[in-house]
Amino acid sequence: MTETLSTEKTISKIDPALNLRQEILKLKKELNAVILAHYYQESEIQDLADFIGDSLQLAQNAEKTDADVIVFAGVHFMAETAKILNPNKLVLLPDLNAGCSLAEGCPADLLLKFKNQNPGHILISYINCSADVKAISDIICTSSNAVKIVEQIPKDTGIIFAPDKNLGNWVMKKTGREMKMWQGACIVHETFSAKKIFELKLKHPNAKLIAHPECEEQVLKNADFIGSTSSLLNFVITDSSKEFIVATEPGILHQMELKAPGKKLIPAPPESSCACNECPYMKLNTLEKLYLCMRNKKPEVTLDEEIRKKAYLSLKRMLEMSK
Ligand code: 13P
Ligand code: SF4
Repeated sequence: MTETLSTEKTISKIDPALNLRQEILKLKKELNAVILAHYYQESEIQDLADFIGDSLQLAQNAEKTDADVIVFAGVHFMAETAKILNPNKLVLLPDLNAGCSLAEGCPADLLLKFKNQNPGHILISYINCSADVKAISDIICTSSNAVKIVEQIPKDTGIIFAPDKNLGNWVMKKTGREMKMWQGACIVHETFSAKKIFELKLKHPNAKLIAHPECEEQVLKNADFIGSTSSLLNFVITDSSKEFIVATEPGILHQMELKAPGKKLIPAPPESSCACNECPYMKLNTLEKLYLCMRNKKPEVTLDEEIRKKAYLSLKRMLEMSK
């Protein structure tokens, strides 16, 4: 809270005449930094990034970068993943409060208890979790490789899947594997209203419904295509349809508009008339905070080395299994 207040104060002191875009590009050169951004970031941040991707692509990019500094325009677990892979690099996150409801709803001590109640099971954790959870997990997955990873687990081995029950249930359906599920969910993807989407479909009969697997079953069962943010983008680019109802965080629409010009994109509506289809954590990052974190070389993401080493093993296993 004190940190938040002091950041707000510093932001108000930024010279309004400053061209933030130019300053960020200048700092990027000075620091030999790379800016990695997730698709849910504000468009102006995406436009400045060296690389925009889904969680898997961002981790793969963080693994191979030779920059000295990684500036992560995303949420905390993503920057933490970059730090797990790069213990000797400076990893900056514009706002340390950029969390994730999935990571917050799955404390490592409770998950460990659940794991111990199911001996002989392997624990597959969705990358949207803390480093502490990664450290007690056997394998990490993302929405783009979860099916591929579960399919590689021997049939006679029990699986615990955490923390996203919606992604987990979708993977169970796709693979036919039973999994013991942690009951977590994404506050953004759970907000989409199946009823309102149905009404939209009536108004736009030619529109295809595309959805992220973090959405609830009622939405997923009517979807024409389900996939990670990068696969949704790819679907819009390559599919012959001209209209799409997009059931994921609307930040992705920016790249869809750029890469598939002329296609009509309709963001899926939330239950109430709020803006709760926008991820409040992702949107904590602003151009001002991006500039400040690079200028001040903080906030920095740090990790206990013992936890990092353990988390590295489950993450590395995922990277190997996704090849
Ligand atoms: P992907 O970008 O991996 O599809 O994940 C979406 C998400 O919710 C990230 O927090
Ligand atoms: Fe977490 Fe959902 Fe935000 Fe992704 S969209 S960071 S899963 S709260």
